[in-house]
Amino acid sequence: VTLPSPPPALYPAFFAVTPKDILPDLKFPQGFLFGVASAAYQVEGAVKDEGKGPSIWDWAGHQPGVVTDNSTADVVDLHYYLYKEDVARIAALGVNSHSFSISWARIFPFGASDSPVNQQGINHYADVIATHLQFNVTPVVTLFHWDVPLALNAYYGGFASPNIVDDFIHYAKTVFMAYNGSVHTWYTFNEPQVFCANVGVFPFNLSLPNGVNSSNAQFHCSYYLLKAHAGAVKAFREMNISGEIAFKSSDYVGMPWRANNTEDIDAVERHAAFGIGVFADPVYTSGDWPQILKDTLSPDYLPRLTEEDSKEILGTADFFAIDAYRTYWNAAPPEGIDACVSNSSDPLWPSCNVEVMFDFNTGWASGPASDPLTSWLQATPQFLRSSFKEYHRRWPAPRIYYSEFGFAQPFEGVRTPAELFQITEDTDRTNYYMTYLGELLLSIQEDGMPVEGAFAWAIMDNAEWNSGLSARFGIQYVNYSSPTLQRTYKRSAFALSDFFQTHLQKE
Ligand code: NOJ
Repeated sequence: VTLPSPPPALYPAFFAVTPKDILPDLKFPQGFLFGVASAAYQVEGAVKDEGKGPSIWDWAGHQPGVVTDNSTADVVDLHYYLYKEDVARIAALGVNSHSFSISWARIFPFGASDSPVNQQGINHYADVIATHLQFNVTPVVTLFHWDVPLALNAYYGGFASPNIVDDFIHYAKTVFMAYNGSVHTWYTFNEPQVFCANVGVFPFNLSLPNGVNSSNAQFHCSYYLLKAHAGAVKAFREMNISGEIAFKSSDYVGMPWRANNTEDIDAVERHAAFGIGVFADPVYTSGDWPQILKDTLSPDYLPRLTEEDSKEILGTADFFAIDAYRTYWNAAPPEGIDACVSNSSDPLWPSCNVEVMFDFNTGWASGPASDPLTSWLQATPQFLRSSFKEYHRRWPAPRIYYSEFGFAQPFEGVRTPAELFQITEDTDRTNYYMTYLGELLLSIQEDGMPVEGAFAWAIMDNAEWNSGLSARFGIQYVNYSSPTLQRTYKRSAFALSDFFQTHLQKE
């Protein structure tokens, strides 16, 4: 069976214009956070310094075959030491916020709640936060961006074990206490769905507890992670920590490939349930897993939430945050669709994401790109407004942060000045940001979506997990061969800066 092609709708071109020409009369609401984003493992380097313990990723990065280009993040951007320069460089662009994460293994080198706290780690982030405040860059802090202290994985299997819950809550409390008053916006977890999908996979499946295996580890992780999230938020509220807290969702609500086709509409529902819904339904709407999950997965696969769990979990978010890079069509999975990739944790009915590349010149181009490197070239600005309406309709919250969006190109090295020019003159990334931000403005001003911040991933090139340095997301180029790890603004950085200035609400 071959599915029909989508209508050849042309997307109205926001690109090929200067940032100042894009909807110049529309402004972002007052206090809007114009941010960039990063994560500890991906930018800090200094992996063995100042008392830090190893995280699972520090270790995984040294296992053969894990990182495609064999790079490690041991040094990477050395942001651990260069944070002052880095904050100054984004402040100079008019960026008024930075979303970054704290490394758990810097605070507790051995992870566990009964193990010693590392004062140097506490002091370090205190200075990082103070530096942001000095430069009027609002710090937005994530407690956990996938870097479990290695000791906890080796000892009891990390998030595959119930032991993680109390250890995480203890870590969270320590951090809240240390930085209360200087951080307003907090995330407990970054993209739990992506993280949990990896828990049963080599090399993260160290010491899986009895009853947990590579196929059900994802949902055991989902269960303990939700409990850890809820416990941390409960502590946040009981300790009267000032500010707001939630977690960052990943994934998307798809579009039915064939409008009005009930099977494709079902595929959208299944994708939403097995995607954002896994964590968002319990926290925002029902206090329980989406019904489709319970109908599909047995209790030894998906531990059931008790009434007590539900009470603890429901309502543990002050806002909704979404990392939304691209949206796909979802199609029912008849056999033999070659334009489909199975990209879902639904074991009975892998939903079919129909990938279509966006061409910034013509507005539309087709063809799947499931390769991990080139798939980042997909952009779907034409879906941004409808996606935000769906997030808000399904998981209502008083505020939404667009917590990550960005664009990577495969990186093959720089040999000539012309190649460097091509990298820093990053037209496609610039177009990506301009089209997305134009749509975001319309989403806020025309559709009334309460979006209060947008964070470009990433502050600079960095260690892109399994792709290492071969996928570059930065709005700054980093020359990893230069002794100073020199940063260079790309054109997209200047375009973002102009866009922010043009659309800033003047007091
Ligand atoms: C989301 C993740 O939070 C971040 O760590 C990652 O680098 C980007 N997506 C790009 O893959």
